[in-house]
Amino acid sequence: MRLSALARALRDGPAETLLDVGCGDGAITRWIDSLAICRSIIGIDPDKESIDDARRLTDSRRVSYRIRSTDTMDFPTRRFDVVLMSYVLHHMDDPVAGARRVAQVLRPGGRLIVREPLADGLSPPQIAARDLHHLKARIDRLRGIKHNETLASDAIRRVIERAGYRIVTEQIVCGSDGDTTDRAIEFALSYGGIGLGEAIERMRARVVEAIRCDGVEDQPEILLVATLRTHAERSDDPVERHGHERRDQDQCR
Ligand SMILES: C[S@@+](CC[C@H](N)C(=O)[O-])C[C@H]1O[C@@H](n2cnc3c(N)ncnc32)[C@H](O)[C@@H]1O
Repeated sequence: MRLSALARALRDGPAETLLDVGCGDGAITRWIDSLAICRSIIGIDPDKESIDDARRLTDSRRVSYRIRSTDTMDFPTRRFDVVLMSYVLHHMDDPVAGARRVAQVLRPGGRLIVREPLADGLSPPQIAARDLHHLKARIDRLRGIKHNETLASDAIRRVIERAGYRIVTEQIVCGSDGDTTDRAIEFALSYGGIGLGEAIERMRARVVEAIRCDGVEDQPEILLVATLRTHAERSDDPVERHGHERRDQDQCR
């Protein structure tokens, strides 16, 4: 159900060449390939193990993978019809810089499609899921894996707009991928293990209690489609103009 919104967005414009940024083990990359709308799909991820898994699990001549991040990718400019960032922004050090970097490989009129779990506007069972997600993020960070807390919808829009895009369509996609309350509790209890400190254990106890109380339903996600702002749009924007003026003044000093 969640992915059908992404399928509609992908079909709603040219998508012959697609870059899947932060593809992980390629689960979404393979699913996109199965839609048979792309001639070529490249998945990138800085994590070697994930790319090894993606290569092992993928059997399609249309799909290839590279161990690259938004900082290290080296594609020719204007290469892709679509760049997808699915559940990646909250894993990045600097999401604005990352989204700006992918703008260079998007062809004119090409589309950036962003999927992100939402941290705001949640019902109690969705709050329980968000808090479980944030517990997982905190444990990942302790283990040296980049994983920030999820963002509110306004913050996600701001990232995309600051990176130089105009949001064309947006929708909030709700519904659960079928995680039961029992499974979520089991996951919270198993996650992390011993020795992560009292603060984490307290956080975990709170999350388990909230799930027991309210049940759990997946965090809703936002699905944004954006295109690069034209030069004229950028110079009409007072924030952007002001920024340029300030930079111009700085350069004169
Ligand atoms: C939660 S996974 C998303 C996997 C997949 N896109 C999905 O929707 O299921 C986030 C991925 O983003 C990757 N990542 C983090 N920073 C990145 C960057 N700067 N450039 C590309 N990928 C990045 C991580 O290595 C991780 O595999």
